[in-house]
Amino acid sequence: MCGIVGYTGKNQAAPILLDGLSKLEYRGYDSAGMAVFDGKTLRSEKTPGRLNALVEMTHDGKLLPGTLGIGHTRWATHGKPTRANAHPHFNAAGTVAVVHNGIIENYLDIRQRMEKKGFAFKSDTDTETLAVMLDYYYTGDPVETIIKVLHRVTGSYALGIIFADHPGELYAARKDSPLIVGKGKDGNYIASDVPAILKYTRDVYYIENEEIAKITEKDIVFFNIDAEEIKPELHTVEWDVNAADKGGYEFYMMKEMSEQPKVLRNTCEPRMKKGSIAFEELSKDADIIKKASKIHIVACGSAYHAGMTGKYVIEGMARIPVEVELASEFRYRDPVYTDDEIVIAVSQSGETADTLAAVKEAKAHGVPVWAIVNATGSSMTREADRTLYTFAGPEISVATTKAYSAQIAVFYMLAILFAKERGQLDANEEKSYVEDLKRLPEQVELLLGNKERVQKFANRYISARDVYYIGRGLDYAIALEASLKLKEISYVHAEAYAAGELKHGTISLIEKNTLVTAIVTQEALYDKTISNIVEVKSRGAFVMAVTNVGHSEIEENADFVVYIPTTNKYFANSLAIIPLQLFAYYVSAGKGYDVDHPRNLAKSVTVE
Ligand code: M6R
Repeated sequence: MCGIVGYTGKNQAAPILLDGLSKLEYRGYDSAGMAVFDGKTLRSEKTPGRLNALVEMTHDGKLLPGTLGIGHTRWATHGKPTRANAHPHFNAAGTVAVVHNGIIENYLDIRQRMEKKGFAFKSDTDTETLAVMLDYYYTGDPVETIIKVLHRVTGSYALGIIFADHPGELYAARKDSPLIVGKGKDGNYIASDVPAILKYTRDVYYIENEEIAKITEKDIVFFNIDAEEIKPELHTVEWDVNAADKGGYEFYMMKEMSEQPKVLRNTCEPRMKKGSIAFEELSKDADIIKKASKIHIVACGSAYHAGMTGKYVIEGMARIPVEVELASEFRYRDPVYTDDEIVIAVSQSGETADTLAAVKEAKAHGVPVWAIVNATGSSMTREADRTLYTFAGPEISVATTKAYSAQIAVFYMLAILFAKERGQLDANEEKSYVEDLKRLPEQVELLLGNKERVQKFANRYISARDVYYIGRGLDYAIALEASLKLKEISYVHAEAYAAGELKHGTISLIEKNTLVTAIVTQEALYDKTISNIVEVKSRGAFVMAVTNVGHSEIEENADFVVYIPTTNKYFANSLAIIPLQLFAYYVSAGKGYDVDHPRNLAKSVTVE
């Protein structure tokens, strides 16, 4: 989704904006632009396409001199990705510049109203209505004017605004779209996300809904929607400055896959104490844990798939019914809650609009909400009653890998906790699970170490048109994630099927050389899935299998096998997913695609 960067201070703004926008490229965009003010002239450049085009047009920013500026990468919602629709947008006189992330839902009404008053529009965007209204309602006092405009809009927004008659002043506001304010030494910043400004500062304010910030080189002042001054807390971001760099890898996705052992350690170690699992974050929730009658897991995309793993593991270990639901369905379904239920939201970004809405819907019904989130200080961490962080660090590649791995690890630990607290697990069993958890990072390392073998196989299948992923139980949860990985970055049609469901229709699509990937880690279901492999083989399929070490007899039926090291039945997903992530990566890279920025996709889906 759109990315915003803003700066006011001692230095030239344009290079800072371009650098910051490059760190937000992962969010997905199709045009870019910026406006810079030198105290006299408010200049702007914008262009459809990649950020590089803007870098070239502005000669690395040199053509836009000035120490106050706002920059934007746009992911088109209203109107095509054209120069006219790219941000910043201006009023007719070119004295107010606005960048916006979010959607102004009543923009058509506003536009008609403003047109009747004689204002003309140059773009198809909802954002331009804001620039026009900021002009129409302008009182000379930017904060007062912004508030007047915000009272008239419905929808979501993160805004960066410059008024030409207020040199050195950068304004920001937010509702339901992420925006942070960074406090630096040589100036201050706004950004959609931390990586954009991490190089310059680690000190950030998280702007809350319907708050406005007035930012100058030396000061940052916050107001609520009633124009009262407020004092938010300053947070220090712990992320490593290099965490948002490629670190020598060709793509972030490879870097992030390689970080999975470290991420598993970082996520699990703080919750493992002397052979036992404890979540400090849930220290006041013993009652909720003991009494829980049902858990709803809500999420989107891969986070939903992590939730599927969570369901099998929690139900298996703790015997609590778990329902996993797509947040986009849950939020509009009017779900039925009974006593003692919990909602667990899962999100890497903590900003996914549907998941956030699901959290709010559950909270409105008084249901306790826990959120498994990666991005520090994101909206979801502020909406949920409890946040269980995955310590994956910044994830840049649109296709999630390390955050997904961390999410399923949190579910393992939650399952252990629930099972223990409800008398389903004794101390020895818990200890044995903790030992298995501790072994996971090095087992993942082992699988990553064999990546060339997967690469060779991927090269052979680079022109596959359709790929089917099959598995049963927890293996089905992995099939879902593996197929999403392949389709999102390689543009190969991929489908996940519960292996037993194949012969109810989909098997008719299997023909000579169709690639079928079978995940067979669940010993109790091994023979069943082997039968499904035999079924597809006899229809000509080429079978890749991922199974536990020791099952070499599978090679009688499978053409290419990846063996995963031994762990308990619940944790196998953490291992089985590794070769499947690698496979998707190598197919995409082998085709010459931009692995980190798949077409049409955004990292953080902040609109519905
Ligand atoms: O930030 P979130 O975890 O809430 O994002 C949810 C999905 O948009 C995300 O997992 C998406 O499916 C990824 N592109 C998958 O790789």
